[in-house]
Amino acid sequence: MSAPVDEVAAGVASMSTGDDQPSESSNAGGEQVVTPWDVAGGADGKIDYAKLVNEFGCATIDDALIARIEKVTGRRAHPFLRRGMFFAHRELDQIVTAYEKGEKFYLYTGRGPSSEALHLGHLIPFHFTKWLQEAFKVPLVIQLTDDEKFLWKSMKLEDARRLARENAKDIIACGFDPRRTFIFSDVNYMCTPFYLNVLKIAKCVTFNQARGIFGFSGESNIGQVGFPPTQAAPAFPDCFPHLFGTDKKSLRCLIPCAIDQDPYFRMTRDAAPRIGGYKPALIESRFFPALKGESGKMSASDPTSAIYVTDTPKQIKDKVNKYAFSGGRLTVEEHREKGGDLEVDISWKWLNFFMDDDDKLRTIGEAYGSGAMLSGEIKKELVECLTPMIVAHQEARAKVSDAVVDQFFSTAPRDFDSMFGELVGDAPAPSEGPVSFQGGENLVASNAPGPAVAGGEGNQGDDAGSAAAGDQPLSKSELKRIAKEKQIAEKKAAKAAEKAAKAAAAAQ
Ligand code: TYM
Repeated sequence: MSAPVDEVAAGVASMSTGDDQPSESSNAGGEQVVTPWDVAGGADGKIDYAKLVNEFGCATIDDALIARIEKVTGRRAHPFLRRGMFFAHRELDQIVTAYEKGEKFYLYTGRGPSSEALHLGHLIPFHFTKWLQEAFKVPLVIQLTDDEKFLWKSMKLEDARRLARENAKDIIACGFDPRRTFIFSDVNYMCTPFYLNVLKIAKCVTFNQARGIFGFSGESNIGQVGFPPTQAAPAFPDCFPHLFGTDKKSLRCLIPCAIDQDPYFRMTRDAAPRIGGYKPALIESRFFPALKGESGKMSASDPTSAIYVTDTPKQIKDKVNKYAFSGGRLTVEEHREKGGDLEVDISWKWLNFFMDDDDKLRTIGEAYGSGAMLSGEIKKELVECLTPMIVAHQEARAKVSDAVVDQFFSTAPRDFDSMFGELVGDAPAPSEGPVSFQGGENLVASNAPGPAVAGGEGNQGDDAGSAAAGDQPLSKSELKRIAKEKQIAEKKAAKAAEKAAKAAAAAQ
């Protein structure tokens, strides 16, 4: 369960401005690609998660760790955890150990507001985060990266900001409480304490490293290149003086997300000891598969590829019946003989995410796998499982008024102790006017490890380079990528020169 030796260098990304993110597709080249902006399976279209864990250098969650979480929280693990949907981590064991000793931590997750409605895959981290928050009784910050979506998509800034507020309503509908949950848009919240962290992190990461981690190229706009520290900063508690005070409280951070966000946090963890903070821990999920099959892509532009939290019961039924990829056999006779293929059947896979009842799920799996249950019947089970869940979501969202959104966005101080225990008091009053925090240079968490010393131990041990930015050795994969890019640039320049020479000759 140890952390990787070289987090920053692990995993080289490829860039795409994609559709709703992460977009999932098969990759003609055969190499799987998983980045915050693009997800493509290998030659068979599937994500090889074991390979990904290996490449990224994270660890897998084992039964012993789940048992420790159950013991320390006194709760049965969430189905996403006990069924292996949240399957990978970085230093989750250390957070649990610290918590067992009475140390506090907070949760941090987020959403890039790129579409009006969330699809079911987007709900996964929020449902799970809600469970974590209740089980551990800890505060939560939720970042809405309106800036990221503006920089990556052909989207107006005002649309990204409007979607941030709209998406916040769906997130709130998952059942959070504003007394221990702060939701913020980057554009609105970028205040001094936040920006101090952004700057400190940015200074730790060279362009070569950012290119190695995120796959930036000469064509990337410089807003994209400069963005990652903005997603990294909320992993440090001093970004939030209204939650955690200004008297240097030491707090660890745990980030639930799908594994596509890992590159951001490899970078964050590498910078952490150098800015005097704890490395954030991560708990990472697999991708919720697309309706038309695991190698398909859930896309906002193809409404039949996913189920959205805005879909009506009729749309849910029609989509499942028409489009859910079936592992059923061609004829009833063949199906009865061979049984349904659970490896590819989307209804079965989705039931594994959303059916709480373990016994019922097992019975369905046995019946479908043996051929006693037909494809239409398992689809009916899925429709019956999803419809009340989505209807309940829509009812909860309808109750989220603008005033409620303002409570979550409020920068009014929260009651520190009650955020970590039984909630007391009223919801925070909405903020008046723009955020106006001023922060001191030294607002870093106390008792967090100090700046890394080469060859040091503990929290600073697993970063690629603990020397000052600029002195850091590049990994083999980073060097390879840079060499390849150089080759392409040289070829392009040679072609352009050749073209210019021809044009000049023709003009004479
Ligand atoms: P975004 O909006 O692409 O996705 C929001 C969250 O949903 C997860 N996710 C999925 N999980 C399971 N199955 C899927 N098919 C699926 N698609 C998306 C994402 O991993 C993410 O956790 N840059 C981020 C926003 C962000 C963030 C964060 C996310 C800012 N700070 C901290 C996680 C943690 C983004 O665009 O997420």
